[in-house]
Amino acid sequence: MRVVRTVAALRRATASFRDKKESVALVPTMGALHAGHLALVRLAKRRCDRVVVSIFVNPAQFAPHEDLASYPRTWDADIAALSALGVDLVWAPGVEDMYPEGFGTRIEPQGAAKAGLEDAFRPHFFGGVATVVAKLLLQVGPDVAIFGEKDFQQLKVITAMARDLDIPTKIVGLPTVREKDGLALSSRNAYLSASERSQAPTLHRVLKDCAKRIVAGRPVVDALAVGRAQIEREGFVVDYFEARHADTLAPIISRKDGPIRLLVATKLGRTRLIDNIAV
Ligand code: PAJ
Repeated sequence: MRVVRTVAALRRATASFRDKKESVALVPTMGALHAGHLALVRLAKRRCDRVVVSIFVNPAQFAPHEDLASYPRTWDADIAALSALGVDLVWAPGVEDMYPEGFGTRIEPQGAAKAGLEDAFRPHFFGGVATVVAKLLLQVGPDVAIFGEKDFQQLKVITAMARDLDIPTKIVGLPTVREKDGLALSSRNAYLSASERSQAPTLHRVLKDCAKRIVAGRPVVDALAVGRAQIEREGFVVDYFEARHADTLAPIISRKDGPIRLLVATKLGRTRLIDNIAV
């Protein structure tokens, strides 16, 4: 496995794949890799001859008050895990390579990026994500790029961006990988105290209960109100808890207008946790 740190070295490596007519998959990450990221890598290996994983903690998607400085960085463990999986190339640019002196372009996605979910609480976020992912797709030129449904709105935003900008990469989503108790794996779970960690699975349990109530015929607004109260009772601060159309992310009030996706974002202590499930 090679680690490359400049665009020039990356292009030489990917050109040698192309010369051999090998297909290439990209898995973009911010490092602090867990079993969810590794599941994306395994899917990438099944889909293509060569797998490139990018590790870049992208300053452009963090607001000044957010956790850029404290975001977990576990480089040695990340490299060991990727090497054990047979990844071909790790693309690990520095901030000065990704955003050199004079950098002045930003992609501001609309549509799914303005759905009133993550964007309502992190207004800078999808501009930063879209800009860096567009750069990653143009730098690597993969046939396929793989993203997790854990970040459901992000997956929609990136899919729309690739379509809108005629980027020929196929964007593929992978279902959320969870702990045995249901908690969605996340690099930010490392911030949870022991007692918060024991409360955190509530989120997935409430999502499942809420989906069951909707399937059983309970009005969507009622099911959401019950779920929100359950989450708040456990001490979470709710940013949003919503039912949206699974394709368009438009608000939805009746199951017959579905398919429905339930999406939740909360704070537990200082940790922001997000999750979503299909109904
Ligand atoms: P990061 O949070 O490191 O996540 C990298 C990829 O792993 C994303 O596609 C995310 O959805 C996926 N992922 C995270 N947890 C998962 C889980 N439990 N199950 C399945 N997939 C999971 O998302 C980002 O980085 C960044 O915004 C990025 C796209 C790399 C742009 O900077």
